[in-house]
Amino acid sequence: MKIVILTGAGVSAESGLGTFRDEDGLWTRYDLEDVATPQGFGRDPALVHDFYNARRQNCLSAAPNAAHDALAKLQKSKRHDVILVTQNVDDLHERAGSRAVIHMHGSLMRALCAGCGATWDAPPVMDHAAPCPNCTAPKTRPDIVWFGEIPYHMDQILHDLATCDLFVAIGTSGTVYPAAGFVDIAQDAGAKTLEINPEPTGGGFDTLRTGPASQAVPDWVETLI
Ligand code: APR
Repeated sequence: MKIVILTGAGVSAESGLGTFRDEDGLWTRYDLEDVATPQGFGRDPALVHDFYNARRQNCLSAAPNAAHDALAKLQKSKRHDVILVTQNVDDLHERAGSRAVIHMHGSLMRALCAGCGATWDAPPVMDHAAPCPNCTAPKTRPDIVWFGEIPYHMDQILHDLATCDLFVAIGTSGTVYPAAGFVDIAQDAGAKTLEINPEPTGGGFDTLRTGPASQAVPDWVETLI
């Protein structure tokens, strides 16, 4: 069976990285216009780097939880063709052992030159004045897809959604497109759809497994291997 899995901030919540729209989420403490848009970066690049430097530090001191571990175990079992797409910019899936993780919103661990488009491994603390290793321009930004920008790997993702047997969304509110529309694309292509979340998000999934990801995801994976 070909399974496309989409994860959101909820899969890393129990690793201490928080979410965006829960009651103490990041967007309740920061204005996303200031730290997650190209315009915000143009206005105050230092503020944007401070925001992502703090999130990178949190990520480096966090550990994968049982949900990340279970998804890596599912991939390694080779019992199914598993495509793991994440909206998250942390590297907890990789640190749990997942491979070929498709980061549609970029990665905290990568840097991008706003001048020439070169990308490289991000240092723990980034500074916008740091020269690009390719063109030397002092236009360093996090390799994160901000609001108003085009998510990465969409051609691959849309192909996988159109050819999968099962689409599973884990720990995402289903409020940000294009990810929020993946369930419809999969259903239109004839796939079954499953949501794993503490409560239903209203996305019209065929089935729902409720609970925190660290419990609900391992329980679900056990039914597959
Ligand atoms: N286990 C599973 N799910 C959880 C847990 C948990 N322990 N705790 C919270 N959740 C769920 C919430 O119920 C919610 O449905 O995780 C979801 C988090 O939703 P958001 O905070 O909106 O995060 P996400 O859906 O990943 O946001 C999508 O929005 O701001 C942009 O680029 C950002 O990738 C992000 C995108």
